[in-house]
Amino acid sequence: MAANVINGEQVARGVREKLKAEVASLKKEKKKPPGLAIIVVKSPFSRVHVARLKERTCHQLGINCKIYYLPETTTDEEIIFLIERLNASREIHGINIHPLTPHLNHTLVSQLVDPRKDVEGLHFLNMGNFLMGDFHMVPFVARGIMKVIESTGESLEGKRAVIVGRSQLVGKPIAFLLLHQNATVSICHSQTPDLALFTKNADILVVAAGHPHTINKNMVKEGAMVIDVGVNQVGTHLIGDVDFEDVEKIAGWITPVPGGVGPVTIAMLLDNLVKAARTL
Ligand SMILES: NC(=O)c1ccc[n+]([C@@H]2O[C@H](COP(=O)([O-])OP(=O)(O)OC[C@H]3O[C@@H](n4cnc5c(N)ncnc54)[C@H](OP(=O)(O)O)[C@@H]3O)[C@@H](O)[C@H]2O)c1
Repeated sequence: MAANVINGEQVARGVREKLKAEVASLKKEKKKPPGLAIIVVKSPFSRVHVARLKERTCHQLGINCKIYYLPETTTDEEIIFLIERLNASREIHGINIHPLTPHLNHTLVSQLVDPRKDVEGLHFLNMGNFLMGDFHMVPFVARGIMKVIESTGESLEGKRAVIVGRSQLVGKPIAFLLLHQNATVSICHSQTPDLALFTKNADILVVAAGHPHTINKNMVKEGAMVIDVGVNQVGTHLIGDVDFEDVEKIAGWITPVPGGVGPVTIAMLLDNLVKAARTL
């Protein structure tokens, strides 16, 4: 039987509706809207279309959004200068830095964001609090993935969860959230020998490797929930890390790409922004 396909756009719509009301009441209370700054250093990695989508969503919700486009030749010092300005701005409550080119030090610049404006949840203070069990500012991609999983109504209690990918942005935080829900978690990566040995035993399989065709039907347990976080540009198309048509035949639940995790992560970024704006 074909898997239940999780409609991420529908999940995101639910989050956005709630957020719209919260933004309206926050505006009344603070006499100004929440403000998001997105830093995009132009390069093939920078996902400009996603920045525009975030900007459009902000406008629909009554949130101020400004995208700072910087040239490919930008230096660490120039980004740091911009971050310092945004840290000091009373109109900006959250800063989102899009993936940088390898000549820039993403770890360094993201640690210079005021932790109160760290809506990505990647500042070491927020990450540290998160690992200690304080969930005030949780990495937004992991929050999006959890929201998608929760939308199925399936319990995670006692389930075996396998994550493919161990990045700070996706793999590690989602592992911790799943653990918190009493799943038993394994994290796989590029050095894992025999990936299928792990994935085949997963009740919940979260894939964030960043490579198409990482997971096929032979690597998935019948009835498993398969969450595809990967976004890969192939020609003019976006595809995930999972062979959707193949795996759909055997999984119990599956997310499509596009239209799965992506819209929900944007909604959760804005949810983090509203949280930040409330406390600033
Ligand atoms: N939908 C969304 O909202 C959203 C948000 C963020 C990211 N993404 C997408 O999610 C994907 C992952 O993003 P990321 O930032 O986590 O990427 P990343 O930093 O490049 O990390 C990729 C991880 O996958 C592992 N990996 C790569 N190839 C593998 C393989 N064949 N088998 C097992 N593990 C493998 C790597 O292992 P090593 O550590 O050993 O190198 C690494 O830990 C990308 O496609 C990205 O575009 C989507």
